[in-house]
Amino acid sequence: MIVSLIGYRGCGKSSLAPLIADRLNWRAVDSDRLIEEQSGCTISDIFNVHGEAEFRKREAEILEQLYAEDQIVIATGGGAILNSQTCELMRQSGPVFWLSAPTEELVRRLTQDSSTTNTRPALTDLKFEEEIRTVLKRRIPVYQAVSDFEVSTMNREITDLAEEILQQIQGWTPQMRTAVKEHTS
Ligand code: S3P
Repeated sequence: MIVSLIGYRGCGKSSLAPLIADRLNWRAVDSDRLIEEQSGCTISDIFNVHGEAEFRKREAEILEQLYAEDQIVIATGGGAILNSQTCELMRQSGPVFWLSAPTEELVRRLTQDSSTTNTRPALTDLKFEEEIRTVLKRRIPVYQAVSDFEVSTMNREITDLAEEILQQIQGWTPQMRTAVKEHTS
């Protein structure tokens, strides 16, 4: 089984994945860091030099390799759910957790995170805050459709969130899915 964490930039996927993996005695993988390692440059460099489409291609390829493995907690990039094949692999491999937060909170976290400039290239021509609002609005229905659980990260300690997710994982079986969800990207 593989546990996937999805959600917009700044929702806490990369911080939570190792906490959950440690408790399960599994491996945590941050797909963005893996792309950077394999490409030998930053995510922003890939966007700037090769464009977003090339980044999405590399992202889908790396995730395909990861979903062939077992016992990993994957912190996916915020846009990984834009690829429907990736979403299928995610859902076939185990429970998918959407780490949600109100838009204003994500704006606040992303503005304060100093790594934003290097690791989070612009996704549109819009101004910083407007981009978050616009892209998030488009993606929320996808995060909702692809995930098995929405985990609100607002005003929550990271250890609490890990506990909540671990409890859901323990009782989880694919049969718990009441309906086959469809997603449109
Ligand atoms: C992206 C999110 C980033 C990274 C890339 C694109 C997106 O990952 O994959 O900059 O489209 O939302 P994080 O969500 O880990 O910041």
